[in-house]
Amino acid sequence: MPPYAYFQNQFLPLSEAKIGIMTHAFHYGTACFEGIRGNWNAKDEELYIFRCPEHYQRLLNSCKLLKIALPHSIDKLCELTIELVQKSGYREDIYIRPLAYKSSELFGVRLHGLEDNFLIIVTTFGPYLDTEKGIRCCTSSWRRIDDNMIPPRCKISGLYVNNAFAKTEAVENGYDEAIMLTSDGHVSEGSGENIFLVIDGQLVTPSCYDRILMGITRDTVIQLAKNELGIETVERHIDRSELYVADECFLTGTAAHVTPVVEIDNRKVSKGAPGKLTRELQKLYFDVECGRNKKYLHWCSSACTKMVKT
Ligand SMILES: Cc1ncc(COP(=O)(O)O)c(C=O)c1O
Repeated sequence: MPPYAYFQNQFLPLSEAKIGIMTHAFHYGTACFEGIRGNWNAKDEELYIFRCPEHYQRLLNSCKLLKIALPHSIDKLCELTIELVQKSGYREDIYIRPLAYKSSELFGVRLHGLEDNFLIIVTTFGPYLDTEKGIRCCTSSWRRIDDNMIPPRCKISGLYVNNAFAKTEAVENGYDEAIMLTSDGHVSEGSGENIFLVIDGQLVTPSCYDRILMGITRDTVIQLAKNELGIETVERHIDRSELYVADECFLTGTAAHVTPVVEIDNRKVSKGAPGKLTRELQKLYFDVECGRNKKYLHWCSSACTKMVKT
């Protein structure tokens, strides 16, 4: 089965879904997107799409900012996604990329008076960061951009150049991931992940005022910590120096899952190994996103792969 895309209101082979070189979004970054995981559960023979409606709610918010009119409800967007996944027939972990964009083929920097379009791509997706051993991070020399520049609370394509600067600088300097600081020097987030610290038994994460994307994995971890471990998360400003003295640190994201951070700016986090609470939350999260924890099955949309296969 060839990989499929949903493009210009139809399902078609990915190789046939093309945009013109004059497309507005290609020149000016006037698009917004989501990243959604589908997790293969071999025991259930099921592909579970994780928190699909929440991702589309966030996409609709991004569209609102960009003045993109998406003509579908959240339910319809979830239906289209499931249909695309079924058509693609994957029986392994996948990544779903919905993207809404300014599709007019003309020059001119603006948001108004342009045509909009929407597409969904589905692809296989392996590990993004090392969730087992943990990763080494650096604080980036690239500051997180402010809300009144390009709002980081939305996944706007053009904004991701800021993230790309930070990620490439980190990797080229020998680290796995960058931690960006806000313009006033507080800890914000990774290039594609939110950040958590454990300080004196408290779970701490930057608040919505710290130029972060309000991550769906972040929210999942906050809920799991509270409901399953009785731990409340404190959302507050975090100083850079707190990164160096924290007992544990981990990143969260659709791509990154829950990834332990074992070193920051050449200083070991605690003893330089994944922390105990990090491991507990990681296990809880993996079980939930793969549909193994039936209490949270309402977060998993079944793509009914086995029905399509038979
Ligand atoms: C900049 C940024 N922060 C955080 C996240 C994590 O968000 P989520 O958990 O919704 O994937 C992402 C990933 O989408 C991201 O790109």
